[in-house]
Amino acid sequence: MSKNFDVIVIGGGPGGYIAAIRAAQLGFNTACIDEWKNDKGGPAPGGTCTNVGCIPSKALLQSSEHFEHANKHFAEHGITASDVKIDVAKMLGRKDAVVKQNNDGILYLFKKNKVSFFHGRGSFVKAADGGYEIKVAGKEEETITGKHIIVATGSNARALPGAPFDEKTVLSNDGALRVGAVPKKLVLIGSGVIGLEMGSVWRRLGADVTILEGLPTFLGAVDEQIAKEAKKAFDKQGLKIELGVKVGEVKSDDAGVSIAYVNAKGESQLLQADKMIVSIGRVPNTIGLNAEAVGLKLDERGAIVVDDECKTSLPNVWAVGDVVRGPMLAHKAEEEGVAVAERIAGQHGHVNFNTIPWVIYTSPEIAWVGRTEQQLKADGVAYKAGTFPFLANGRARALGDTTGMVKFLADAKTDEILGVHIVGPMASELISEAVVAMEFKASAEDIARICHAHPSLSEATKEAALAVDKRTLNF
Ligand code: FAD
Ligand code: NAI
Repeated sequence: MSKNFDVIVIGGGPGGYIAAIRAAQLGFNTACIDEWKNDKGGPAPGGTCTNVGCIPSKALLQSSEHFEHANKHFAEHGITASDVKIDVAKMLGRKDAVVKQNNDGILYLFKKNKVSFFHGRGSFVKAADGGYEIKVAGKEEETITGKHIIVATGSNARALPGAPFDEKTVLSNDGALRVGAVPKKLVLIGSGVIGLEMGSVWRRLGADVTILEGLPTFLGAVDEQIAKEAKKAFDKQGLKIELGVKVGEVKSDDAGVSIAYVNAKGESQLLQADKMIVSIGRVPNTIGLNAEAVGLKLDERGAIVVDDECKTSLPNVWAVGDVVRGPMLAHKAEEEGVAVAERIAGQHGHVNFNTIPWVIYTSPEIAWVGRTEQQLKADGVAYKAGTFPFLANGRARALGDTTGMVKFLADAKTDEILGVHIVGPMASELISEAVVAMEFKASAEDIARICHAHPSLSEATKEAALAVDKRTLNF
């Protein structure tokens, strides 16, 4: 195996492995180094996303949704399912199998694209011969050199001050995906994306779930009308969300955890729980990269400083994904990885930050792209809004899932779509149409004039576009 590469990617998450594949497709001799280990100590490329993030969380969301359907919704279809039980070990086993399929898939893709994979920790040694020397510390230690380095080392969960993760009682996203039995009482700190997704999983399986959120507003980054609708649905499901709290002392042992906090009214409270999941955001990860050896510049948050093109402070060193600024999303990391590989090849790789979709995979799902109504107001943009409820959509009625709506925001003068916000069934899939429309600078009328299949949830998208001009047909 050649030890001199055109491109070395450090980190094999969605940012890194995709960058490596694209670089190899463009004809570069490419290596990817990733240190993630599976339970047997073998390689498990795919990063946070594959191992303890997007993929396993969606597997558990699916299993728990089936359980909830069997328990609560089968009856309305005339199906009797008595004595429905959850075998948590089996559910976790299925989740692990899904993760492994993805790990193996990436190893296969590396082979297919002739990417040299190194299992171990990659760290900078020094600049050398117009490139960089990188040490790989795996089972053995070796040094490889690369002309271009792409750093894609991801992020780690942020711990609550004074309550380090023990992954038994005080859990990060990692432990949250491995809880071996349904806890009676579960507390989550932070009602962001992980709080809502993991809170939903364990509530559906029978846990009494409370989420403590520091901010006074629920899902502040989401369009207010959509966030309000989602909150109503979560309240109805029995997911207890307390806003505006200040978490104080946390005491934990193997048996459980007690959390002192002050609620929004200023009253001191104490919660006892079997487990606590801390989901208060993530911090960029450069541990073990030896960034100092080459003078790679980090900002005060520990993120690698990059420009709009993902160039770092060092020549031919690039960084992508969670370890740099911008939303911590797998698809954002992937897009940056592709763009960087193309820039190395002299092409014009591009990432449009205005059209990166967000999805929260709860039930109802929440998805959006572009600006919210409150952002447009703050930006002083004149806009028109159109909404359409799933209650008036035939497919949603047939599915038995009529919560929520599609909302369009369009420029008052030009009708260009400025934002689309969805809360409801399959919002994660429906949002793609809005992303495509915004990429092509479509107007609301463009969507309103397009033939959408009947009966489909996407008709709610068309109707919301029609609503911008106050001419819905079915509502
Ligand atoms: P990572 O995926 O973190 O990968 C970094 C990799 O680099 C890791 O394998 C790490 O071991 C390796 N590494 C680090 N340092 C070194 C080193 N020095 N040498 C070698 N290897 C190293 N995003 C979505 O878009 N959709 C979702 O549904 C979603 N769900 C999520 C659910 C949870 C519970 C969590 C925690 C996150 C979720 N995310 C989701 C966010 C998503 O996982 C991240 O945005 C994404 O993984 C970032 O990709 P990355 O390549 O930048 O980093
Ligand atoms: P988050 O940023 O989504 O939410 C963190 C929440 O915790 C915020 O509401 C914040 O106000 C609150 N908070 C912060 N400190 C607090 C404190 N001390 N006490 C109480 N509340 C506090 O972060 P989260 O949920 O940890 O997820 C991390 C990131 O992972 C997400 O931002 C997202 O980028 C990614 N992710 C994406 C998913 C998706 O795309 N579906 C799913 C899960 C994670």
